[in-house]
Amino acid sequence: MSSPRGQFSSKTGFILAASGSAVGLGNIWGFPTNAAENGGGAFVLIYFVLAFCLAYPALMAELIIGRHTRSNMVSALQKISTGEMARKVGKYTGFFGVIIATLILSFYSIVAGWMLAFLLEPLSTITGLSEVSDWLTEFGNTRNLIFSAVFMIFTTAVISAGVEQGIEKWSCRLMPSMLLLMVCLIVYVMFQEGALTGLKVYLLPDFRQIGDPQLIASAMGQAFFSLSLGVGTMLIYGSYLGPDENLPAMGAIVTLVDSSIAFLAGLLVLPALFVAQQQGVTIYSEAGNLIAGPDLIFQTLPALFHGMGAIGIPVGLVFFCLMTIAALTSSISMLEVPVSYTIENHRIGRPTSAWLIGTIIFIFSGFIVLNFDTLFNFTVTLTTEYSQPLLGLMLCIFATWVWHRDKMLAEIRSGYPQVEQSLFWKIWPSYVRFCCPALILLMFVQGVLN
Ligand code: PFF
Repeated sequence: MSSPRGQFSSKTGFILAASGSAVGLGNIWGFPTNAAENGGGAFVLIYFVLAFCLAYPALMAELIIGRHTRSNMVSALQKISTGEMARKVGKYTGFFGVIIATLILSFYSIVAGWMLAFLLEPLSTITGLSEVSDWLTEFGNTRNLIFSAVFMIFTTAVISAGVEQGIEKWSCRLMPSMLLLMVCLIVYVMFQEGALTGLKVYLLPDFRQIGDPQLIASAMGQAFFSLSLGVGTMLIYGSYLGPDENLPAMGAIVTLVDSSIAFLAGLLVLPALFVAQQQGVTIYSEAGNLIAGPDLIFQTLPALFHGMGAIGIPVGLVFFCLMTIAALTSSISMLEVPVSYTIENHRIGRPTSAWLIGTIIFIFSGFIVLNFDTLFNFTVTLTTEYSQPLLGLMLCIFATWVWHRDKMLAEIRSGYPQVEQSLFWKIWPSYVRFCCPALILLMFVQGVLN
């Protein structure tokens, strides 16, 4: 039987859930390392411009379509289409979104599993179980499989509890805790020797890099991934919003929270790298670049925590707790995409659907773990660099070319009757119709050619 649709019980519930989806490993890991690799402050600057000028308008397209149609991406794009052809394209685009969300979760849960393993490591160190510590921190199939399974169980349990009792309740608990942990860590790191050098690398823009197509493509990919765009997570969260909410304001708050937390993460990770350097940890690769990627999180920072002595244990614990929470609030939004589709289009109950899809995703993760060298980077690139921007482009096209303009405008007006006097009303519809698709396409092609 299909269950009645859920709904967020409050504005704050929606904002925390949507920000929870947006704020994830992409912010705390991806953003600072991208900044470090792409000219520090220059990347930060371009990122903020793109987040508000490109990702925010695309986010609005998803929220507006979602709230109007009150359905998952597959049905939503069909509902706003008029001709037979458009409906078909809508259906396949929606379906593609569901598959990409599923694939993103397949690799995301592996990485989140590593965070869980590193979270447990300080506990095994305290209790003197050094063999367990080694097992937890060394790359191995068994560890990867077990922890991605544990992480998927947490994710699935939240989604199976529903929109209000699962997604909203847990986002409201986890998001404030995450912010608190992060602020504590930033304050601690800032007082350590070397932090100031990291701050300079992070914030001083290298203007020579500002027009670099590689930098712009990275910033666009980062902005789309960070705001969870294209795959229907924001669309489905929008569909759980009431008609009397002011959508442009809600979207703006989510974009602001997401960018601010990414910025804060930079204040933590880059200074921490240079604190590690003070303690003798190598932070530059042989090619002379700052260490980024997995080595940064799983070698450089743990080396820093170990070098701190006794205080390093709680600091490491807090850091990986922060990472795990950030990953969890994002992964629940990814799982909601295929789950809402099966609930609504195949009339399967929520718990059955959640556990069934959770298991399928774990099987995909297992495949990736067992063929790590060939499948991991391939899946990441295919989903985040290629599919997400293209799906974002399709959603802009559906919102402004396919959907009847009056209906779209009426949906924006709902919950914000004075919108006609706002800048949003004057700019957004034509901007998303002409500029967004052209800009996304241009940067996408440039990125691919590079
Ligand atoms: N926004 C998340 C992050 O920054 O880690 C990742 C993400 C969540 C991507 C949900 C896609 C998605 F559907």
